[in-house]
Amino acid sequence: SAEAQQVEVMNTSSAAPTLELNVHRADFPVDFFFGVGTSAAQTEGAAEEEGRSPSVWDHRAKILPGAIRQSDKFPKAIDGYRRYMEDIQLIKELGVNSYRFSVSWTRILPQGTISGGVNQLGVDHYNRLINELIRNGIEPFVTIYHFDLPQVLQEKYGGLTHQMFLKDFSDYAELCFKLFGDRVRHWFTINEPNVLAQYGYELGIAPPGRCSLPQRRCGLGSPPRCMVPVGPCNFGGNSSTEPYIAAHHIILAHATAVKLYRERYQVEQNGEIGIVLATKYFKPYSNSQEDRAAAERLFDFYLGWFMGPLVLGKYPQSMRELVKERLPTFSADEISLVKGNLGFVGINYYESVQAKYRPPPPTENLSYSFDSWAEEKDIKDVPGVSENHWPQGLQKLMNYVKNKYSSPQIYISENGYGNPKNDRLPLDEQLKDPNRISYIARHLYWLNKAMKNGANVKGYFCWALFDDFEWGIGLSQQVGLYYIDFDDNYKRYPKQSAKWFRDFNHNSFYGS
Ligand code: NOJ
Repeated sequence: SAEAQQVEVMNTSSAAPTLELNVHRADFPVDFFFGVGTSAAQTEGAAEEEGRSPSVWDHRAKILPGAIRQSDKFPKAIDGYRRYMEDIQLIKELGVNSYRFSVSWTRILPQGTISGGVNQLGVDHYNRLINELIRNGIEPFVTIYHFDLPQVLQEKYGGLTHQMFLKDFSDYAELCFKLFGDRVRHWFTINEPNVLAQYGYELGIAPPGRCSLPQRRCGLGSPPRCMVPVGPCNFGGNSSTEPYIAAHHIILAHATAVKLYRERYQVEQNGEIGIVLATKYFKPYSNSQEDRAAAERLFDFYLGWFMGPLVLGKYPQSMRELVKERLPTFSADEISLVKGNLGFVGINYYESVQAKYRPPPPTENLSYSFDSWAEEKDIKDVPGVSENHWPQGLQKLMNYVKNKYSSPQIYISENGYGNPKNDRLPLDEQLKDPNRISYIARHLYWLNKAMKNGANVKGYFCWALFDDFEWGIGLSQQVGLYYIDFDDNYKRYPKQSAKWFRDFNHNSFYGS
């Protein structure tokens, strides 16, 4: 029963102050969206079925299998494409009113572009998925591009670093509005542009795997791997410029799609649109002026990189001063395109870090991670914080965003708890996850406080619905409310956290 579970949570997570677990569905507005999230590449599988072509991740899994753990399992992921009907029932059982998922670009447009033809089988799939969600009272929140760029576009012109990405993305986004916008009323254009830029073009640990950092040591060998740090990293690319060029094009592409949506679809379809940004809360390492400024700079390099142009029409001053001519500039026309075309902002928040001043990098080290003159240090070293997450950081982050960017509308598009998978544990042990329950409850507690303090938050999506395929680290980490048994035909089992979330959503937990 709920009460028995409550006792269990309290007992097993002694680190969590009881107060922070005292949070109720009724503390949030009735029309608040509570949901769960996934993305296409991490769940669908059916990579080569029904006309789909490879994304950059499918390609990487093929050519650099060593760079992705369990890459042989990637093409099937968790078999979500075939099981969507049953999976919708699992979502429904959580009592949530919304579901965040992404459309696979190459399922709809196998050639990446509309002129290459629309794949009707892919369109049919998403129509069935959306209709079934709505039939079950679950509001679809759709991410248009979640890391899975068509490989054909990567090969054709180099993907994000080319201007052509702008038109191809906005054409694809518009096609989604046309096909699904009569029923989908919440759109996320692009997921975590800072991660796309940094992992793909600075660190080389995500496609297209470009990296030229002299100080970074990557795994070499045949094929080269950029996961295990053992040798100098040199896989082509230019880590000092390309992340900024990729991000610049993402900003323009997002703004173009938002403008299109607003001009041609929003009124008729009665919907809304925004972007998804990933950030941490940056707590100054000390009270010194230097560390406080370092924290501000890290906010700029994570959030301001996108919020600056989209809200204020320019990159943050700190970035302009430190990145100098490596930072692209917006023309007057581009300023009028991007400024004010943010829409709402989705924020993926998992953890906080301490921000410490770091002296300027030597000129040969110029690159995104070093340009901010700041170092990220573990938050768990702060007295009273035992883990790398810090739920109160979410409240502080909401407050920061509200004050800095004129109180935008916010969705917490991701928040959740990952633990390393231990294959040796028996099934019933796999389903015990008191830490995940405590993590979610505490974050909701502090989110609620931020809202009471005026943060304009409209929804919260727990990541993830399932233990899914976590990109480069494959199946080695579990983040789901549901466990997947890969040895028994991908069977899904609710963890304790799924039951907890259900009780939470049914409004009757913790003291009510
Ligand atoms: C960010 C990404 O959007 C998602 O795909 C990923 O699985 C989670 N965070 C967890 O790392």
